[in-house]
Amino acid sequence: MRIFSGIQPTGSLHIGNYFGAIRQWLDFQHNNECVFCVVDLHAITVPYDAKNLPNLVQEKAIVYLAAGLDPEKVIILVQSSIREHTELCWLLNTVTPLGELYRMTQYKEKSTKHKKEECAGLLNYPILMAADILLYDTEIVPVGEDQKQHVELARDIARRFNSKFGETFVLPKVKLPKEGARIMSLTEPTKKMSKSEADKKSSISLFDSPEEIRKKIKSAVTDTYKTIKYDKNKRPGVSNLLTIYAILSDRSIKEVEKEMKEKSYKVFKEELAELLVEKLEPFRRKREELLSREVYVREILKQGENRARIIAEAKIAEVRKKMGLY
Ligand code: AMP
Ligand code: TRP
Repeated sequence: MRIFSGIQPTGSLHIGNYFGAIRQWLDFQHNNECVFCVVDLHAITVPYDAKNLPNLVQEKAIVYLAAGLDPEKVIILVQSSIREHTELCWLLNTVTPLGELYRMTQYKEKSTKHKKEECAGLLNYPILMAADILLYDTEIVPVGEDQKQHVELARDIARRFNSKFGETFVLPKVKLPKEGARIMSLTEPTKKMSKSEADKKSSISLFDSPEEIRKKIKSAVTDTYKTIKYDKNKRPGVSNLLTIYAILSDRSIKEVEKEMKEKSYKVFKEELAELLVEKLEPFRRKREELLSREVYVREILKQGENRARIIAEAKIAEVRKKMGLY
């Protein structure tokens, strides 16, 4: 099957990105045709630093490799290296009803946050995402829960295009992980863990030092109950920590809950912090190693670009023809 997913280059990747997206990608890479993208064109829809963007893109490519994506098996791609993404975005603009864009949750949140600098690109963001997905005849899109609505819109756009111009696009399906589709903030556990959150204590970056991890887990918001119990609605803080522990130790939440039942919050948090330190250590090591291999990383991106271009050019030619363009 063809798999496509992407992550924006801005901000530091956290365990939510890993559990929601990248961990799923690792499973898919063995038996499928995968394209994993650093979506720089999406990142420019909010204020950003143009000088630093290339560094952030390179850094995210390193993260993909450090997490265990195998460039021999998957295409690792920078979105802006293939012009067809922007071209298809424009074409799909013409079959997307405006009302659909205004009702997107992420648009509502981001347009409130960036009220003064809001640009049209922020509203059209999901169309570019649909273009990313549809350009490669994608069947499965592994993402976290917050992106589900966008993938469903991409599916609707594909359906609408097909009925207007004839069978052209595969209808993509969203794939969420069983656990970890929505990891919550450590400081405000009713909000999702987010790269753009200013308070660094709210998230665990994949490359935090052991000291930072211990400090952040220690100060994570929980509650005043005595026992450790999973209850997402009434006890979001501890439920989030139990979820993180369960994923990292490859066990069910029920099992972890049972094991931790008699323990104090202090001991539970210490054990969780040590588990995180242990599990994130290989990322840190691999990243250090790749930071000094800039040419190798660039080469992988170039290779990804060349492989992706063959698929993208063929698809856009088909779309142009169906739409009656010159
Ligand atoms: P972004 O950080 O918006 O570029 O998101 C990259 C990927 O990580 C997408 O698939 C998101 O759905 C996923 N993701 C982001 N935040 C979380 C979170 N708190 N929990 C689970 N998945 C997440
Ligand atoms: N919008 C996604 C996010 O913020 C990133 C993204 C862009 C994406 N294009 C995509 C994800 C295509 C999956 C498929 O997380």
